[in-house]
Parts: sequence; structure tokens; C-alpha cells
Amino acid sequence: MKITKICCIGAGYVGGPTMAVIAQKCPHIQVTVVDLNEERIAAWNDKDLNNIPIYEPGLDAIVSEARDRNLFFSTEVDKAIDEAQIIFISVNTPTKTYGKGKGMAADLKFIELCARQIARVAKDNKIVVEKSTLPVRTAEAIKSILDNTGNGVQFQILSNPEFLAEGTAVQDLLNPDRILIGGDTTFEGQKAIQSLVDVYSNWVNADKILTTNVWSSELSKLTANAFLAQRISSINAMSELCEKTGADINEVAKAIGMDSRIGSKFLKASVGFGGSCFQKDILNLVYIAKSYGLNEVADYWEQVIIMNDHQKRRFSSKIVQTLYNTVSDKKITFLGWAFKKDTNDTRESAAIYVANDLINEHAKIAVYDPKVSSKKVLDDLNYLETRSIENNANSITSHLDPYEACQNAHAIAILTEWDEFKLYDWQKIYDSMQKPAFIFDGRNVLNGIELTEIGFIYKGIGS
Ligand code: NAD
Ligand code: UGA
Repeated sequence: MKITKICCIGAGYVGGPTMAVIAQKCPHIQVTVVDLNEERIAAWNDKDLNNIPIYEPGLDAIVSEARDRNLFFSTEVDKAIDEAQIIFISVNTPTKTYGKGKGMAADLKFIELCARQIARVAKDNKIVVEKSTLPVRTAEAIKSILDNTGNGVQFQILSNPEFLAEGTAVQDLLNPDRILIGGDTTFEGQKAIQSLVDVYSNWVNADKILTTNVWSSELSKLTANAFLAQRISSINAMSELCEKTGADINEVAKAIGMDSRIGSKFLKASVGFGGSCFQKDILNLVYIAKSYGLNEVADYWEQVIIMNDHQKRRFSSKIVQTLYNTVSDKKITFLGWAFKKDTNDTRESAAIYVANDLINEHAKIAVYDPKVSSKKVLDDLNYLETRSIENNANSITSHLDPYEACQNAHAIAILTEWDEFKLYDWQKIYDSMQKPAFIFDGRNVLNGIELTEIGFIYKGIGS
């Protein structure tokens, strides 16, 4: 089938950038991204590109080129479904907060709503693409809903998981390591796969487009995230051992990373991984394994999360311990709140949990992050429901200027690896702080030797 119209349900971190790149690379295809969230769609349509809802380097230029040419953002979901030949589902699939599987399983209510809506609206054959990250065998449920509630038209379900990382989304989309497309092994299924391959072939080499059966594709996404997160927990586990033994985790990471079988990427010790997906997807994997009675498999992967929680707690405990076992009424400045650099996303950021621990110890937290608003910081803390909203508001402040944020602080904690932190006038910051002035570098991004020469007491991770 020659594809001329694509619809994507969900204008979030995946749907927005992914569709913007498809539209840029395929000017002959009309791409409409729809969402129920009117505010988000209005922001995507904002004339001022600084106001588009997602900050990703390079995204504004792509949106500017394609928007209103062949890229549209709209709240008219039915219309976009009706017109499209391919419908991507890119809605959120958070961890369930209620009922069976609470705290573990993926909540598929948004996926089911999309499937029912597509079934109701579609009046001709459609290819439905799972772009969201889903438990293995979800396609079966989607197919059942489509076939049982639809208007008698044919649906093909493809799995096409997204591997972009935030902060590098545009580069990842333009030059992907691979595109994975899973589909039915029938003739019709293979035809549907080919239609989607043809879309990606507009800019991705054929040798990077991998086609599999649906279940392999669905499970590969969870597996990829589990392996990536496992590397971080592995290096973080070793960072604790380094701190006890005089080894340096940066040196250890370099030494093992030069082994081509191990590889050097994703071995950066940190305060713990954050982001909306690693934890959610591993919990989901653990739940699936348990549901098949595979308890050893479940326990193996759960340990990745246990280690990550430990690493976050260990960081806050170290701050308290080093500050003479009390941080009560002490100002502690957080440089960074986002879960990684070059994004305004704060979901599951380690900063939230470290702040929560320190506020439990009656610390006063001052935050500076170049891309995160003060409202977001407070909302993130309130979401934990640890204490009253007023109490949180009295315990945390946000600043637009990093030097102001650091003034009179007893300690600085680096929570995000923003490049600009390396360029600060650290002597000026030192002079404005309480003494002794501590720096806890949760990302190992600053030069500890230079900071120590200035007079700071510098504590990195794993050294
Ligand atoms: P998000 O929360 O940023 O966006 C999802 C959007 O879907 C929201 O704007 C929401 O309003 C909308 N939505 C929900 N139900 C809807 C409905 N019935 N109709 C219309 N719109 C609806 O989520 P995200 O970060 O883009 O993630 C989406 C999926 O992609 C998840 O499954 C996630 O695991 C996966 N994923 C995310 C990333 C990432 O970097 N964020 C990377 C790869 C995969
Ligand atoms: C991750 C994966 O890298 C993507 O391939 C995947 O598509 C995505 O999840 C998803 O499914 O949502 P993302 O969470 O955006 O992408 O960002 P990462 O670069 O993976 O970083 C995740 C967290 O791990 C961040 O907090 C980061 O600071 C931390 N990290 C990363 C480390 O602590 N050390 C490292 O060596 C690498």
C-alpha cells in the first residue's frame, strides 16, 4: 500500500519528535499528531518555537520546516484516524497504580482506549502500529479489540518500538542504530511490514531495518531497556566498592570499557538512573516473568531496580553523614533537576528522591536547572505525597541564576550532568558559600582536583 497519510495518537516525548522527523524526511506523506491534551497541542502549534512542549536539541528547526507543510498537530482524533492508512499509538504506558499488578505491571488503559477508538472510527483497512513500549503479547489484545468492536474492516498490527533517548532524540531518529518492525507472518502481515519499511527507507539504510515476528519485536524493546539499565546498576554497584577500596570508578569503567566485548558506552557511574522508562519497563518485565512463574528471571531483573534505589539513597545519606550528621536548616543547592542533560523531562529523576530524603532531614533545598521551571520542581516533590504542599513549598526554592542558588549554601549537589556546570566560575561560587564548602558530584562531571585546590571538599561517585 502506498502510504500518503499517517496519524499518531499521543503528542508526547515519543510521538512529537518521531513524527516531526518522519514528516521532515517524507514530504509526500501527511503526518497528523493528535492528543487529548489541548494545552499540549496548542504548545506544539505555538508560533514561537521556544514554546513547543518538548525541549530537544534540533527539534525546533525540524518542526519549523515541516509544520503546516505536511506536519499537523490537532485534537481532532477521530478525523485523523479516519483519514490515515497507518495509525501509530504513542500514548503513555505508566506503571499501574491500582488493582492487580499495582506498582509493577504496565497500565494499558490508554492503549485499550486507542484501540476502541480506532475500531469505532475506521471505515477502511488500517495498519495499527504499536510505538509505545508494551508488554509482550499486547498486540493480541489490540487485535481482539479491533476485530470484535470494529466495522468489519481489516486491521494489521505492527510492533515498531522506539529506541530514542531524550536529549539526543533528533540525532537518534535521524541516524538510528536500527529500526525494528514486527508483524504477522501471513501474506497480509508481510505487506503491512513492507508499507512501514517503505516509510523508513526514505532516510534509513535497508541494512538497518530489521523485521521480526510481533512478539520478538515487543520483547526486544523491554530487553534493550533492561540491558541498558543493568549496565548502569552494575557500574553503580562497583562504585560503592570503589569508595571502600581506593579504586576509582572512572578508571575501572575505562579499563573494562576498552574490552570490545564489554564496550565503553553506558558505564558512567551516577546518582542513579532516572527517566520515565527504565524503571517502568523493568518492573513490567519482572511482572511478566512472575506471571509465567519464572521467579528466578524476575528476581534477577528486579535487582537492577533495587540497586538503583540503593544508589539514590546512598547519595543522600552520604551528604548527611559528611555534613556532620545533620543538615537541619542547612542550605543545600542542587545543580540540575532533569533526569539527564539536554532535556526538560524530570520524570523519575534521581533529584526528586534525593531532595525528598534531605527534606526529611529538615534541609533547605535550592534548585537551579537551566530547563526546569520552579512549578515543575514543586509538582515533582508534591507527587510523592511525603508531606503537605505547604511544607514542600517552605523546603525548596528554585532559582534562575546558578550563582544566586549557591550563595550561602553549605553544600552543592550535582544531580544532572549539564555541560554549563563545568564552565562556572567556581572560585566565585566558593567565596559565596558557607565553610567548609562541600560539593557532592552525583555525575562525576566536575574537575575534583581543581575544586579541591580552590578549597572545596569534593566528593564524587565511586572514588
Ligand atoms: P508522554 O506522556 O510524553 O505522551 C503520551 C501522550 O499521549 C500524552 O500527551 C497523552 O495526553 C496522550 N494520550 C494518552 N491517551 C490518549 C488518547 N486516548 N488519545 C489521545 N492522546 C492520548 O509519553 P512518552 O514519553 O511520549 O511515551 C510514550 C510511550 O513511548 C511509552 O510507552 C514509553 O514507554 C515509550 N517510549 C518513551 C521514550 C521516551 O524517551 N520518553 C522512548 C522510547 C519509548
Ligand atoms: C532510554 C534508552 O536509552 C532509550 O534507548 C529508550 O528508547 C528510552 O530509555 C525509553 O524507552 O524511554 P532515556 O531514558 O531517554 O533513554 O535516556 P538514557 O540516556 O538512557 O538515560 C537514562 C538514565 O540513565 C539517565 O538518568 C542517565 O543520566 C542515566 N545514565 C545513563 C547513567 O547514569 N549512566 C550512564 O552511563 C548512562
